[in-house]
Amino acid sequence: MQVEEIKFNYDLGIFGDTLKRIVLKEYPHRLTDFIDSFSNNQVTCKKWLVLELLKILKNKPDFSTKKITVLGSWYGNVLVPLLVDNIKGVENINLIDMDEDALDIGRKFLGRKYNGVTINYLKEDINFTDFSTKYTNICINTSCEHMLPMDSISFQNDENVLYVLQSNDMKNVREHVNCVDSNEEFINQASLSRTYYHGKKRLEAQNKKKYWRFMIIGRRDD
Ligand SMILES: C[S@@+](CC[C@H](N)C(=O)[O-])C[C@H]1O[C@@H](n2cnc3c(N)ncnc32)[C@H](O)[C@@H]1O
Repeated sequence: MQVEEIKFNYDLGIFGDTLKRIVLKEYPHRLTDFIDSFSNNQVTCKKWLVLELLKILKNKPDFSTKKITVLGSWYGNVLVPLLVDNIKGVENINLIDMDEDALDIGRKFLGRKYNGVTINYLKEDINFTDFSTKYTNICINTSCEHMLPMDSISFQNDENVLYVLQSNDMKNVREHVNCVDSNEEFINQASLSRTYYHGKKRLEAQNKKKYWRFMIIGRRDD
């Protein structure tokens, strides 16, 4: 399957209107951050995630996609359309972030229903949240470098959760409190016992520095 096959049907009209009506008027201080969330690296890595997830789901038709939890979701603006428009059977997506403004912009941008899928916006500090009473089929975290290692998180149905995780080795960024140097370290840190995919991409940051972005997909059922 080619990356080109991933649908990314962005409505530029809605994008332009929301940019002006919400970000420029209500959150002008978030304009640069919001635009950064649509950067080429962001879109490339989110498409990469959906492509590899699709390949796994194709071979594992018994894996449910009904409920997806996204940790450190930021605005959710790139990932939500990619998930909804490419993955069958998604009913509910929980976006969890501690940044209330990002969640509010995301909600005004995507709405509480996106192409028939319910989107919930939950303000929580993941480092202080007990996930042991929460249920999900898929847990996505593309912000692992920002928070405590994933082995500190365990869902109610943990052995059946498919974890889809990204991190990087950009240790020079202040808020990157938990970078990794390899997928082996990442898999270990997330306590995955069964790995369906691991890969890495060499990317260039805005300051032209090269870095690695890592992705692992797996479960804890072995
Ligand atoms: C800069 S953004 C996303 C960057 C990431 N590399 C990506 O591509 O998705 C990181 C997000 O993680 C969130 N975040 C960081 N630590 C968190 C925590 N402890 N609880 C909840 N959200 C957190 C931030 O608020 C922010 O929205």
